[in-house]
Amino acid sequence: MNERSRATLGGRFTFPGTSLTVQRMGYGAMQLAGPGVWGPPKDPDGAIAVLREAVAAGVNHIDTSDFYGPHVTNQIIRKALHPYPAGLVIVTKLGARRPPDKSWQPAISPEDLTTGVHDNLRNLGLDVLDVVNLRVMGAIDSPLEGSIEAPLTALADLQRRGLIRHVGLSNVTAAQVAEAQAITDIVCVQNNYNLARRDDDALIDDLARQGIAYVPFFPLGGFSPLQSSTLSSVAGRLGATPMQVALAWLLHRSPNILLIPGTSSVAHLRENLGAGELTLSPAAVAVAAH
Ligand SMILES: NC(=O)c1ccc[n+]([C@@H]2O[C@H](COP(=O)([O-])OP(=O)(O)OC[C@H]3O[C@@H](n4cnc5c(N)ncnc54)[C@H](OP(=O)(O)O)[C@@H]3O)[C@@H](O)[C@H]2O)c1
Repeated sequence: MNERSRATLGGRFTFPGTSLTVQRMGYGAMQLAGPGVWGPPKDPDGAIAVLREAVAAGVNHIDTSDFYGPHVTNQIIRKALHPYPAGLVIVTKLGARRPPDKSWQPAISPEDLTTGVHDNLRNLGLDVLDVVNLRVMGAIDSPLEGSIEAPLTALADLQRRGLIRHVGLSNVTAAQVAEAQAITDIVCVQNNYNLARRDDDALIDDLARQGIAYVPFFPLGGFSPLQSSTLSSVAGRLGATPMQVALAWLLHRSPNILLIPGTSSVAHLRENLGAGELTLSPAAVAVAAH
């Protein structure tokens, strides 16, 4: 990869208090499992091609979890990319399990979290995990207030044992972030946020002041990708696609936002990475936001 492509993947961001620097444009691997994030993909070679294309293009931040599949997504990442190139940061998450009925259930006991770490290490082929998010189940796609002290203390113990380098949080409230910071350093927060869903505006600004990464999940709207006539008209004027505008808007929203759009398609991946080269005028930012 050349310096030009590095410069255009949204620029770089260093997770606070770490030596981990990533391009702001990353990749989310959840779409690589089968339908409903369950079982193998319809096109296993295609899944491998997407990951290899992302890394070849300069992506060095991949978001995953061992409960995608379950196990399947991490195994595909390992098959596609192991031995991992220097500088690749794989961020995973713990806190859920997938029973045979394919539902998403909390898994936050010390035993669950220990098992989850070892599942990730084995399936990714790693000795230590760079960043692990505690995924709080809350109301599935949005957080609910309540103490997270017990599971986070258990995760911090696994960090002290050297199995995890850095800790993040997912699906949390501002109060839960503050509670967590009294237990261990938090390097990133991954919550549901995009052009159409902006509950976290104050939290993003607060984390930006602290240099903590904010990583929106569903940056393109998730299972129902974003669509609006405004987005299409801004995109049309810029000669870009609506998805590129949605991603570029997030990059413009705050310098601590890191993107992990998900796709199972090389064409969509290329399109999404192109958003890192899109400059939005203040007027386009304002219009896209309405
Ligand atoms: N912490 C959490 O609780 C949590 C929850 C959900 C997701 N995540 C993470 O966040 C990442 C991103 O979320 P996500 O993948 O669910 O949602 P997303 O990135 O908002 O959108 C993915 C959807 O958009 C489609 N898509 C992607 N690029 C496109 C393009 N250029 N044009 C048209 N359609 C496009 C994908 O389909 P195609 O495959 O056809 O491109 C897929 O259906 C996940 O991969 C996962 O790593 C975390």
